[in-house]
Amino acid sequence: MWDMGCDHGHLGLLGLKAQKFSKIHFVDSAISATNTLVNKICDYDSESFCVHHIDMGKVPGDQVSGEVVFSGLGGKTIEKALASLLESGLDLNRVDLVISAQSLLDDLRVFLRQAGLKLKAEYLVCENSQYFEVWHLSMDGDYPIKELGSLLWSSCDISVSTGHLQKILAPYRIKQDHGHQDLNKDLRISEIEEILQSSS
Ligand SMILES: C[S@@+](CC[C@H](N)C(=O)[O-])C[C@H]1O[C@@H](n2cnc3c(N)ncnc32)[C@H](O)[C@@H]1O
Repeated sequence: MWDMGCDHGHLGLLGLKAQKFSKIHFVDSAISATNTLVNKICDYDSESFCVHHIDMGKVPGDQVSGEVVFSGLGGKTIEKALASLLESGLDLNRVDLVISAQSLLDDLRVFLRQAGLKLKAEYLVCENSQYFEVWHLSMDGDYPIKELGSLLWSSCDISVSTGHLQKILAPYRIKQDHGHQDLNKDLRISEIEEILQSSS
């Protein structure tokens, strides 16, 4: 398992404790993060983990396989890292991606779809009044990556899905109120409104 942009390493640590992975790779470009982490995990079997103080896009892609997690990073940062990893030989048939991006989700979805990836599962999580989409993707996934999510809305409580939809809708409403017309965005709003209505 590769915990890309691991920071405190909580995700990789869970993997380490679960002993479900042959090796956990913690990757972060911040020396403060990797130094703190090294002290935290020094009691584990040194064969079971590896800490990489490196830009995640500079990890040799041909050495990456298994579960690759990008969480708490911007969509553009994830896209850039994946593009570099692909250039250095990442084989998408050898990985499962778990992605929870903080921003620019639409652009990232397009990039992942164009790379041939599909969804295995999709979740919506609400934590401290913030909504996070979590995508589990692979080349042999079963569902298409859709702009408004495929499985997202059935993965959680109605109050969570409605809250997330309202958040997605807000910037478009402001534009509409200011008289900006955009056919694609207007279509998107009507699609979102349909989802809201069917879940209320
Ligand atoms: C907000 S933290 C996310 C931590 C953790 N993944 C999570 O979900 O809670 C972002 C981390 O990504 C690291 N980071 C950002 N860009 C990076 C890059 N290009 N390569 C490696 N690490 C990066 C930062 O140093 C920071 O520690």
